[in-house]
Amino acid sequence: MAMMKVLLPLLCLVALLITPNDASRRSKNHTMSAKPFKVLITHPEVPQSGIDLLKENCELIQVQSLPPSRTELLQKVRGVDGIFWGGHELLNAEVLDAAGPQLKSISTMSAGLDNVDLDEVKRRKIPLGHTPTVLNPAVADLAVGLLIAAGRRFHEGRKKIETGHWENYHLNWMLGQDVRDSVVGFYGFGGIGQAIAKRLSSFDIDQVLYTTRRRVHREIEQELNAKKVPFDELLNKSDFVVICAPLSAETQGVFNATAFNKMKTTAVLVNIARGKIVKQNDLYNALKSNRIFAAGLDVSDPEPLPPNDKLLTLDNLVIMPHIGSATNRTRSEMATIAAHNVLRGLAGERMLSPAY
Ligand SMILES: *[C@@H]1O[C@H](CO)[C@@H](O)[C@H](O)[C@H]1NC(C)=O
Ligand SMILES: *[C@@H]1O[C@H](CO)[C@@H](O)[C@H](O)[C@H]1NC(C)=O
Ligand SMILES: *[C@@H]1O[C@H](CO)[C@@H](O)[C@H](O)[C@H]1NC(C)=O
Ligand SMILES: *[C@@H]1O[C@H](CO)[C@@H](O)[C@H](O)[C@H]1NC(C)=O
Repeated sequence: MAMMKVLLPLLCLVALLITPNDASRRSKNHTMSAKPFKVLITHPEVPQSGIDLLKENCELIQVQSLPPSRTELLQKVRGVDGIFWGGHELLNAEVLDAAGPQLKSISTMSAGLDNVDLDEVKRRKIPLGHTPTVLNPAVADLAVGLLIAAGRRFHEGRKKIETGHWENYHLNWMLGQDVRDSVVGFYGFGGIGQAIAKRLSSFDIDQVLYTTRRRVHREIEQELNAKKVPFDELLNKSDFVVICAPLSAETQGVFNATAFNKMKTTAVLVNIARGKIVKQNDLYNALKSNRIFAAGLDVSDPEPLPPNDKLLTLDNLVIMPHIGSATNRTRSEMATIAAHNVLRGLAGERMLSPAY
């Protein structure tokens, strides 16, 4: 009896150890049988969450070079069923031709699709997914950060310290723009814009204006105290102008000298969308001449911005190297969604976030 008391728990433990759990039984099974799909992962640093999902059911091929080499990508893409598009490289006919006609599923790990020849993908009827919405909170946080950093002169303040110009004997030194009671204008007002507006509502802003092609739902307008206005009115009335529209033929270069000349001289411009929506040389002039107060950018044209670019000489510009979605959790979730997109495309099911 005493013997049993010792043995029983021991036996249970052994039984536990040798009974494979569901996941390992499944993966063993898959290792023994051939995996039905071949999937290319186009970047060596795709978060593990995405890889883990795909490897259950797919034979994975991964681009190893960093930065990813086009040549390696074009070689490895041959004959694959699915592509997990991990980087910012151009996804065009060249890639689709190299892959071959069996290709049935692609997902990017990004919200924007400006590196994708969408018409070409559509023409071939290949399901394409992307990962919008999941990055909204991270990008919105950064936008609020840039809005305050630019409005309150963070970059200039840091330089004052470094250059020995901490001149606090002035009474009106380093004065910036208030967020409270301000009018915040959004150029583009989708998920990211709305997430920014929601955050800013706790800063006691006066009103949200937005310019889009289509009006957003009335409930959203009410919740965010938002009003759709023509572009000129947005420029004319906003204390902060936040660009959160996708890049398209329609939005490219819209923020040019003409637009800056319609803005308040106290206005702060924030761009967390795409660099090419702004005519960068015109922005430089508007900031240099204090035609507008300041700008906060997470995006530029080109990217990377050359280290000797004249934008970087401006005191009234806060700029980040396109890090809007760069948090561990966000990147990990983006990879998960992209992997689900690819798997669903392979299974002939509707993707979680279809791009068209
Ligand atoms: C294992 O694979 C076989 C065929 O290869 C299949 O019939 C069976 O359902 C699989 N078992 C599990 C647990 O996935
Ligand atoms: C700025 O763009 C608008 C169209 O969006 C155009 O009408 C205007 O002429 C442009 N201004 C300059 C200085 O390029
Ligand atoms: C906005 O438009 C009104 C009417 O045209 C004009 O009086 C005002 O100066 C404009 N404001 C700015 C900041 O340009
Ligand atoms: C990043 O996120 C993943 C998934 O949420 C988690 O497993 C990992 O521990 C995180 N890594 C760091 C450095 O926070």
